[in-house]
Amino acid sequence: MLTDEEKKMLDGSCGEGMRRAMEIIVTLAKTYDAEKLINISSAHLGATFKSHGLEGLEWVENLVEQGARCDLESVFVTLNPRSFDIDHWREIGFEEEAVANQERLDRCYRRLGTIPLYSCVPYLLGNVPKRGDHFSWSGSSGQVFSNSVLGAMGNREGVWANVAAAITGRTPEYGLHFKENRVGQVLVTTEDLDLSKFSAVDYATLGYFVGREINDQIPVFSGLPKYLTMEQLRGLAYSLPVGGAVPMFHVLGLTPEARTWEEVFGGKEPQRDLVVRPRDLIMAQELLNTSKRDEVDLVCFGCPHCTLGELREATSLLEGKRVSENVRLWFCTSRWFKDLADRLGYRKTIERAGGFILADICAGPSAPFNYLKKGIKVVATNSAKTAFYAPGTSKVDVLFGDTKKCIEAAIRGKWEN
Ligand code: F3S
Repeated sequence: MLTDEEKKMLDGSCGEGMRRAMEIIVTLAKTYDAEKLINISSAHLGATFKSHGLEGLEWVENLVEQGARCDLESVFVTLNPRSFDIDHWREIGFEEEAVANQERLDRCYRRLGTIPLYSCVPYLLGNVPKRGDHFSWSGSSGQVFSNSVLGAMGNREGVWANVAAAITGRTPEYGLHFKENRVGQVLVTTEDLDLSKFSAVDYATLGYFVGREINDQIPVFSGLPKYLTMEQLRGLAYSLPVGGAVPMFHVLGLTPEARTWEEVFGGKEPQRDLVVRPRDLIMAQELLNTSKRDEVDLVCFGCPHCTLGELREATSLLEGKRVSENVRLWFCTSRWFKDLADRLGYRKTIERAGGFILADICAGPSAPFNYLKKGIKVVATNSAKTAFYAPGTSKVDVLFGDTKKCIEAAIRGKWEN
């Protein structure tokens, strides 16, 4: 099963750090009955201290001490968001001890040789595996996007499996690395819905509903408009694994492995038909809205990280306006988009209105509102993922709606139904 080079990695000839990483990959291969390992070209690793804990941090530190390093010549390795924005950690109530732990983890990943991207949209920021490339990524939203929209191939695996893959440049061949496991299973159509008017948030609501219905099957959307924006495709990609555990999706006539009916279903009939109607999306929205109050304490965008298009839309809605003094307004994004927002004047408009842009930070389960010392009870968001997780992870209530509605809530201090 192993090549001569892989055997050397496993017997310690390439150092103890490499041996331990290879041991994880081989164990994973046995778990999934994989017959061989394959080379990956791209890895993307979790980077919040919260997701590692002290034990996880020490585990990575030990690997680095034992000589483990990524080889960027063969695998492009980037990092998912971390826990805070270095420019704003005091404002968001982050404690010094937590900052110290996060910085210790940052140093460790730098020594490992990773690229400190700190974003969950790596596919917009240079880590872009091509169609047919194999990858190992942390973060379900990026993983589903890469499989579905880029046509690259990768499974959903744990944090340590991603780290081990980044070091060894290998992953076991199983699951979505095989073409036959990527064919569509459920045909999804809609009835009485005007898809030409669907925003990115509407696509996220659709994805959330479909994910709840089909769990881990692969959906094929039929009848969607011929052109979907990156934000609309991303809306589907991030929300499908929120409602269920969908590993990838296809859009008939649009995504790379769905050029024809024959191709997308692999010559077979769909296992199931799912018709989505207006009442289904209303129900999905109701499930994501947990707050009984209209007052809003925080309006938070950026799970997944805001694109430049989202920042532009928000900027135009905030032009000449002022956020209510009782509300905080935050946009979480990558440092690169924050810099571009600066150059384009978006940041000035947002800050003049009373909001601010946070870079590098996760807006989801490790969300900024976890760190606010007091007063955050109701969060408004355009993210189905934040809306789904925040009540459990941050003990807040949530109001879920499109970008315009969230910005209006920030200005009025109240959510209009
Ligand atoms: Fe990104 Fe954190 Fe949400 S990594 S997708 S902002 S949970």
